Amino acid sequence: MAQRSERQMQQLELAEQVMGGCPGGFRLPPDQAIVVQRGLGSKVWDIDGREFIDYLLGSGPMLIGHAHPAVVEAVQHQASLGSTFYTLNEPAIELADRLVSAIPCAQSVKYVSTGTEATLHALRIARTFTGRPLILKFEGGFHGVHDYSMMSSMSPRQTEYPKPIPDSHGIPAALEADVLVSRWNDIEMTERILTEYHGKIAAVICEPLQRALIPAPGFMQALRELTLRSDTLLIFDEIVTGFRLAYGGAQEKYGVVPDLATYGKAIAGGYPLAAIGGRREIMDVTRPERRGKEPLAHLGGTMNGNPLAASAGLATLNILNQDGVYEQLYRIPELLKQGLRDIAEKHGETIQIAGEGPVFQIFFTDAEPGDYPAVLQSDRARARQFGLNLIDEGLFLNPGEKFYVSLAHDEDDVQKTLEAADAAMSRLSA
Ligand SMILES: Cc1ncc(COP(=O)(O)O)c(C=O)c1O
Repeated sequence: MAQRSERQMQQLELAEQVMGGCPGGFRLPPDQAIVVQRGLGSKVWDIDGREFIDYLLGSGPMLIGHAHPAVVEAVQHQASLGSTFYTLNEPAIELADRLVSAIPCAQSVKYVSTGTEATLHALRIARTFTGRPLILKFEGGFHGVHDYSMMSSMSPRQTEYPKPIPDSHGIPAALEADVLVSRWNDIEMTERILTEYHGKIAAVICEPLQRALIPAPGFMQALRELTLRSDTLLIFDEIVTGFRLAYGGAQEKYGVVPDLATYGKAIAGGYPLAAIGGRREIMDVTRPERRGKEPLAHLGGTMNGNPLAASAGLATLNILNQDGVYEQLYRIPELLKQGLRDIAEKHGETIQIAGEGPVFQIFFTDAEPGDYPAVLQSDRARARQFGLNLIDEGLFLNPGEKFYVSLAHDEDDVQKTLEAADAAMSRLSA
């Protein structure tokens, strides 16, 4: 574990006093906590100047790397023209046009600022459009931190389907009756729930790549058929997968088009902006002129469509739309995964690497997990310890969770990462 300067220790202590030690839910152990000073490309540096290869990427947004010159320039230009207006502006309109062109299901989009707001509004839109009260989600699927989504997404035990387990205190108990939970990749169970609650379910929401668990062959297609048959909306939460698995996101990658989809993280290049997209007739329930006349899903937010984040998003999509980008976004992670498997074998560790392209997760278990109970059965303490060891070796990541790889990661990062992994695995097995 690296020595930290007096200044860094003072900053950590101050953060403990004035912000409970971390900005949100992500917290490293006290002996490994750092204060980040800057990021560039695939690296971040702490305030002592210690360099880390970054596999956290701000929890995903920095898909083209930190402080990309094109994004910095776009934001600087927009900042000099004003950063937020609460009304129409050209960067927001142009970004919406790009999103509609790129996202298979989107004829129209609406902006919010965070992924949490995006899924909150998508569910409200679905309930308004269908006039039905319930939503169906999958165990282990994460859709942000609002009260409807914090159900059976990170529970320490298996769900008694379809009854949800709240992931936080403070969630109104009444909401538990409005959320149904099925098992990821279990189409029979999902069909049973849809049949039992026929005519009551507004939408099925899923992460098409659930954390790092890929959909079983045919699962997404079957889900699409079942939802169409029962007039239930299908919502893809593409906040992680959007523009990451492919330019057209998981919809393009898996060839299934939902009714609504939510976007965040990568679409604003590290600035706060998220979006909901979908078929026009569904999105139209958010039109303010409906108030008092037709069913209206109210959607609002002070920073919605702010030109600063929209400019960063446009600059990011310009880069992502270039030739060869997705080949690179898949090539480097493949080298990492192969190297990690070889290292595990060398040290006698049984691991599985789940995920898709630039999103992957290491599980210490015999078979690749296909659902949340299998994740619970894997050795999660070992995965976390391996992640903590990696931080000591100069990688920055959420220990035991997903790795995010950016367009800026290169062969040199791969080599250094694998050296770090060899040392971290050797300490783990010792
Ligand atoms: C799939 C998914 N949906 C929603 C969210 C919530 O996004 P935000 O943190 O911007 O509210 C996240 C955040 O990690 C996510 O991974």
